[in-house]
Amino acid sequence: MTDDTAAINRANWDVWAAAHGQDAYYDSVGLVAGADSLTDVENAAVGDVTGLDVLHVQCHLGFDSISLARRGARVTGVDFSPVALEKARDLARRCAADVRFVEADATDLPPELHGRFDLAYATMGILCWIGDIDAWMRSVAATLRPGGRLVLIDGHPLSLMTAGLDPLVLDFPYAFDGPHEFSGTASYATETDPTTSVEFAHSLGEIVTAAVVSGLRITRLDEHLDSPLELGPGGPPGPDGRYRFQLSGQDLPVLYTLRAERPARA
Ligand SMILES: C[S@@+](CC[C@H](N)C(=O)[O-])C[C@H]1O[C@@H](n2cnc3c(N)ncnc32)[C@H](O)[C@@H]1O
Repeated sequence: MTDDTAAINRANWDVWAAAHGQDAYYDSVGLVAGADSLTDVENAAVGDVTGLDVLHVQCHLGFDSISLARRGARVTGVDFSPVALEKARDLARRCAADVRFVEADATDLPPELHGRFDLAYATMGILCWIGDIDAWMRSVAATLRPGGRLVLIDGHPLSLMTAGLDPLVLDFPYAFDGPHEFSGTASYATETDPTTSVEFAHSLGEIVTAAVVSGLRITRLDEHLDSPLELGPGGPPGPDGRYRFQLSGQDLPVLYTLRAERPARA
């Protein structure tokens, strides 16, 4: 990621993080009262984390960091937004959760985090902010112990292309073609002043290849046809509360879960 791009996106996230936390998406009151923030898709992928060292990559306000700590994990949250981390630290204190938060770029995680984690967990709105996914995978893979695993859950690239379904409007590429700058960007969670952001497309092939090239062994790739969160073409959830991407009555993928591990022996 270039310094310019990182600076634009950090400023965007600082504005959003300042606004988030008093809304239905980021319900701080509920979290402090004991609510768990992981969705069913995230729960299915992480399993039991008791006693594990967990790195929560791009942790934002730390909702999932705190939820994982409450399950008995030793959690470090990392994000490049100092405003998000300030709120995350305050929330962890209010939740009496022992979580360490580190300010760093996910594509260049500091050596102090290398080789220390059983699980690197990154979910829901991750790689569209990252220009160089080879650097992201390398950096995140380096934080794992031998045998440690990565859980990456994110919007499916097919669904991220889509701005509307009726009529069908595609406003984003499927695969990487450089930065896309958006002005007047609105937060997904609440109202804020308009911001500028830079996003990147990455195909599923590019993501899987980046993981392999980083030395990780892919253990599973799931494509989900419904999602607990809206991360794609928009539209209301179905009667079951799930978001779908339907064309001509057929479901297309809205999310993916990539599971990979650092081989126990190279
Ligand atoms: C959509 S949020 C992730 C959502 C998160 N799972 C949650 O529970 O709220 C994306 C986060 O990525 C962070 N971010 C974006 N680019 C980053 C980078 N290059 N390095 C570190 N953090 C980054 C943002 O500051 C933001 O907090």
